[in-house]
Amino acid sequence: MKILGTGSAIPTKVVTNQMLSEFLDTSEEWIVPRTGIHSRHVISSENLEDFGVKAALNALEMSGLGVEDIDYFICSNVVNEYVTPSMSCIIASKIGLTCPCVDINCACPGFIYALDIAESRYLAGKSKNILIVCVEEPTRMCSWEDRSTCVLFGDGAGAVVLGEGDNIKGIELHSQPDPNKIWETRTLEPTPYITKEEHSTPMQMRGREVFKFAVNASTRDVESLLSTIGMKKEEVGYYMVHQANKRIIDAIKQYLGESDEKFPTNIEDHGNSSSASCPILLDECNRRGLFKKGDILVFSAFGAGLLSGVAVLEW
Ligand code: UT7
Repeated sequence: MKILGTGSAIPTKVVTNQMLSEFLDTSEEWIVPRTGIHSRHVISSENLEDFGVKAALNALEMSGLGVEDIDYFICSNVVNEYVTPSMSCIIASKIGLTCPCVDINCACPGFIYALDIAESRYLAGKSKNILIVCVEEPTRMCSWEDRSTCVLFGDGAGAVVLGEGDNIKGIELHSQPDPNKIWETRTLEPTPYITKEEHSTPMQMRGREVFKFAVNASTRDVESLLSTIGMKKEEVGYYMVHQANKRIIDAIKQYLGESDEKFPTNIEDHGNSSSASCPILLDECNRRGLFKKGDILVFSAFGAGLLSGVAVLEW
């Protein structure tokens, strides 16, 4: 497939490190060197689905396609206020899409998992034009009394419209199942028969272990896919890495032996917006004219599961 349009939307509320230090035992001096984050956009009065709608409409407008042209819609999302219907159906109802809608929950690498489903459907002859929307509010998953998690995240949505083309050069997905590295639980409605003890737990993360997993997985995934498709690192224009931590991005850069200019970032003023991170970065870079036709983009993302994925795309 080929990316015909990109879009994104983020909440207006900006929360700086200074604002966090007013109610948390944290500081600009801890957060910036450890993460690279200066501020993040946080949902306040808005509904998450409206960011998905705006990102989708922006991507559709750029693509030149109308909603009637889209024949499959994939939404990547970890949490939202609805258990049912799916986020894709909620967004579809607001933009007038009537094609099949599916939600996936693949945590931070959700965009790459969605690209894989899209490309597979296209190659199977089942779809021609596919909309992907990654829409996330990780700030609603953390305890805002836990400085080790809530400082890291920001909310928002990123979208792409894919159409006919052979610009996706390869995708590789990996899993290393371990539910005890990043997790959050919620209790369901009680029934007269439930006898087990249940608890709601805000997001918990074994930060150092996840850090190591992220760096190792990304480096391995990128090298493995480039080798499979016979592409050299010198041919890569940009690495679009999941914006989880600037130190993770720097370590990946160092292991790959690549230069700063190849790694655009927006973590500075977005934090980690889970699966929306890669498509928001993509849209921002695209709209400021960073890419030229023929540039090779490598997307790499990693997160809860533990899951990771990489995709190589020619612009
Ligand atoms: O998208 C999902 C994938 N997630 C990630 O990729 C996150 C991966 N992990 C990380 O990015 C890093 O591990 C963190 C940024 C989460 C933490 O950085 P770290 O260098 O690994 O710090 P640490 O967890 O080892 O904590 C070091 C110290 C601790 O204090 P003590 O025990 O040494 O006294 C923490 O309590 O820093 C303390 N700390 C903080 N201090 C001020 C933790 N968070 C904060 C904070 N402000 N916000």
